[in-house]
Amino acid sequence: MGFSIMLGDITQVKADAIVNAANESLLGGGGVDGAIHRAAGPGLLAECKQLGGCKTGEAKITKAYRLPAKYVIHTPGPVWRGGIRGEAALLASCYHNSLLLARDHNCETVAFPSISTGVYNYPLDQAAEIAVREIRRFLKENLVPRDIIMVCFDRVTQAAYEHAAEKL
Ligand code: APR
Repeated sequence: MGFSIMLGDITQVKADAIVNAANESLLGGGGVDGAIHRAAGPGLLAECKQLGGCKTGEAKITKAYRLPAKYVIHTPGPVWRGGIRGEAALLASCYHNSLLLARDHNCETVAFPSISTGVYNYPLDQAAEIAVREIRRFLKENLVPRDIIMVCFDRVTQAAYEHAAEKL
């Protein structure tokens, strides 16, 4: 299947790993971070507390507890500050580092949310192009994961990723 785009709630996606658009504390928050913690239950936060946080652009992996997935990969995306603080490279590394962890844990299927395009205000079209480029490059260079899904929470986000996928 390779790369696909769907409209839905990532907490209900039965992938081997789902990615969480976290913050550097890894102690939960709103948006998809809050949804994943609510659905996973208290065990997720307990494990996250042992991780000592995570730098923007890096990624850490935990079990998924009550979620249908096997793993949650937590990656803090960059806050958009106008694009002159290395945001593009940091966002690209969120996708790349998350996929390295998924590969190293033999995850055949990985689901992403649209990292940084909510609370962190990253312009959606630019973020979608970065995500599609990184995901397609990783698929070309690696056998695992086999399927990578972008799970969009609303139709505007879905349209942006579909446009980026057609354009690139
Ligand atoms: N499934 C899939 N996508 C979701 C879900 C969900 N259940 N809930 C929200 N989203 C989408 C948002 O609509 C947005 O498109 O995830 C995308 C990322 O938005 P945020 O969750 O706000 O994440 P981000 O912009 O990376 O900001 C991260 O927000 O929640 C806090 O703790 C988090 O501080 C961190 C910051």
